[in-house]
This record gives sequence, structure tokens and C-alpha cells, in this order.
Amino acid sequence: MNNHYESRRRGWRRSWSFVAATTGATIGLGNLWKFSYLAGENGGAAFVLAYLICIVVVAMPVMIAEVVLGSRGRSNPVSTMRDVSLEAGASSAWQVIGWLGCIAGLLVLSYYSVIAGWGFAYIGKLLGGEFVAASAQLSGDSFNSLLAAPELLVQWQALFLLIILLVVALGVRRGISAAARLLLPLLFIMLIALAIYSSQVGDFKAAAEFLFKPDFSALSQEALLVALGHAFFTLSIGVGAMMAYGAYVPDQRSITGMVSTVVLMDTLVSILAGLAIFPLVFSLNMAPAMGPGLMFVAMPYGFGNMIYGNYFGALFFLMVSLAAITSGVALLEPATSWLAQQFRWWRPAAAVVMIIVVWLLGLVTIFSFNIWQHIEVFGMSVFNLLDFVTANLLLPIGGVLIALFVGWKMRKEVLRDELYVESPQIFWLWRWLLRYIAAPGVLVVFLWSLYPWLK
Ligand code: PFF
Repeated sequence: MNNHYESRRRGWRRSWSFVAATTGATIGLGNLWKFSYLAGENGGAAFVLAYLICIVVVAMPVMIAEVVLGSRGRSNPVSTMRDVSLEAGASSAWQVIGWLGCIAGLLVLSYYSVIAGWGFAYIGKLLGGEFVAASAQLSGDSFNSLLAAPELLVQWQALFLLIILLVVALGVRRGISAAARLLLPLLFIMLIALAIYSSQVGDFKAAAEFLFKPDFSALSQEALLVALGHAFFTLSIGVGAMMAYGAYVPDQRSITGMVSTVVLMDTLVSILAGLAIFPLVFSLNMAPAMGPGLMFVAMPYGFGNMIYGNYFGALFFLMVSLAAITSGVALLEPATSWLAQQFRWWRPAAAVVMIIVVWLLGLVTIFSFNIWQHIEVFGMSVFNLLDFVTANLLLPIGGVLIALFVGWKMRKEVLRDELYVESPQIFWLWRWLLRYIAAPGVLVVFLWSLYPWLK
């Protein structure tokens, strides 16, 4: 994304390339690791339903809006916001969307890279046969011993960041798109196979009830905010990443159509991951609310007790890591492209600087699992706080600003031109959702769920 014209010229010519790359940016740890533990912690089906509603009425319209911004501005998020606000005759203060996005992206990547490092570590653990005929206890102990070793966590995180660095520095966007095209079908096949396997060896009925039979009394005020935040997180919106990818949207293709495909795939992957994980959780009497370790404890146990489980397990964690790489690239892109373009830096140098910042910030997360384990802020561990502030506050705030800007400030003709929708009804509905549901909805959820805290 070196300058406006270059990116327009180099934009993906086919919708499918855009869809594949964007799906790569959205499907990641959020679907495989985070969705299941959040559903576990927040009461299951009622949370899942709240999450799905947030996706459809809030997050998806905002995602379309963010891609539209990118496709109009065709630059890094800060310059894009400067150009589109100039064009719309709006205040240049809207650039804050770009700034906020770059900062939120780096903060998210700082802990995302640590968790992705766990994924790498587990490839080795499975190949090494650590879980052959393992008990649930052993699986839990193995996870805890990884968390207790900061030096290991730092190494794995560094490896992940180095890979991201290579991809972003070389700007191999086409490579990403090609890789995503190959990996996506593989991920789907693998998840379906795993869901079938774990429904046979595990307690499928309990899992299905937990995920699909809502008990609204289990939905706390805070859970609603978590569901909303996760809708933004899983679709990678509010951090400028979709703006960066929107800059490559092919001309004269329906953005709503492409985004719907991405959202559908992202949601399917989360549900499939839930169906692969929860039958094992229930048959083992594990606590669904055990937190971030859920996938890392349940899946290795399942693999350890299956034929060729070592290999399938290693493959599973390889997929987790690859999915995390394509998302990590998206997280780093906004800040890197801003730095490179603003100061006319060589792109790899900009990427190195950002990676160092992220790596240092990542130490906070790493230490929160061991030497800073006892530290609590607002009743949360440092890692939980970082996750809460980014996913549940910064991303939705970025989303609201995008909804307000695109819904109220941009001219209709410009939007029609960029969106390229065939049906006027869809256009009307999208703009209506942005104006009257997305922004006010997020504010209502904020007030409702933060009220007990602010009291
Ligand atoms: N959507 C990614 C996931 O679910 O793992 C996380 C993410 C990637 C968030 C890129 C934001 C982003 F810009």
C-alpha cells in the first residue's frame, strides 16, 4: 500500500481474492480460542445469541462502512480519514478514527502474539507425544507449566512476531491471499472432522444445549458488552485493518455481497470450533468457565486419546497458528503503513519499529501469567484488563465513530458509488442500521453494562 494510485492499480482484481484475504484477517484466535472461552465464561447460548445479534445489526454494517472508507481513501487509516473527511466537508478531527485504530491494533497484537505463541508451542508438544493417552489433569498441568515459564513464552511470541514481520515487511499481500485460499477449505474440513469426532467421544448433547439453548438468566450485564466487543474483535473492525484491506477492494463489485460472505464464514468457524471443543469439555467435567486455557486443555486431551492424535493435533495447532498469522498481519498493517507513508520510510524499517513496540508491550501479558500473576487492576489480571480495554472499549468506540462518520457525514452518492449495491433496499437498510442502530446501540450497551462499575 505505497500510495493511492499504486494500490488502486495493484488492487485485487477478483472478488474472491479480496474475500479470501479478508477472511484470513478475520478468522483467527478470536474464533478458535476466544469465542469458546467467552461463551464458556458468559453462560453459553444466551451469550451466543447476543453475539449473533450484535454481528448482524451492529458489526456487519460497521464492517461494510469500514471497507467503504478504505475503498474511498485507498491509503493508510490516518491519511484515509483525512482525505475522506476533507471530501465530505467534515472536520479533520475525524482522523482520530485512524489514530485510535493504529493504537488499538498494536495493543491487541501485543497479547494476540503471546497466545499465538502458545499455538506454536503446542505443535511441538503434540508432535513430541506429550499427550498420548493423557488424562485431563495432565493436559491442564501441561498448560499451566507453559504459562509458568516466561522465557518460553517470550521465545514463542518472538517467533510469531518475526513471521508477521517478514510478511508485512515484504508486503506479500498476494501471497497472503493465495495462502488463505488454500488454508480456508482445509480449516473447514478439519473443524468439521473434529466436531464429528468430539461429538462421538464427548458429550454432544450437553454441548449443543449449552451453545444453543439460551438461559437468559445467565446473561449478565457485562456479558452483553463482552458479546458486543467480541463481534468487533472477530470481524477485525475498529482498528483500521478493514480500511487497509478496503483499499484493495476490486472496482465495481458489491462490497455488501463480499462482506456478507466473510461474515458468514467467520461465524461458521466459531460455531464449528465450539462444537469441537465443548463436547470434550462436558464429557471431562471440565469447567466451561475455566477461561483462556479452555481450548489448550480440552483439545490436546481429545487428540491424545485418538488414533494418530499426535499428528492430527499438531495439524490442528498448525492451523491455529496459520490463522493467527493472517490476522496478526492485519493488526500490524495500519500502524506500519502509516509510519512508512507519513515519514517516507522504507516499509520494512517501519515494520521493524512497530514489531519492537509490540514485542515490548507483549511482556506485560507474558508476565501477567507468572511473575505478575498476583497483580489485579479493577478486579482483573493485567492480561484481562488489556483484553477488556481493547476488545470491549476501544474497538466498539472506533466502530461507533465509523458508523457516525459514514452514516451521517458521507454523501449518499459517494456511498452508492463505492458500495456498488444492486438493490436500493439493501443500501437503505445498511445506512439505516448504521445511523439508527449501530452507533446508538453501542452507546446503550456501554451505559447499561458499565453502569454497575461507575456507580
Ligand atoms: N479477527 C481476529 C480474530 O478473530 O482472531 C482478530 C483481529 C485481527 C482483530 C485483526 C482485529 C484485527 F484488525
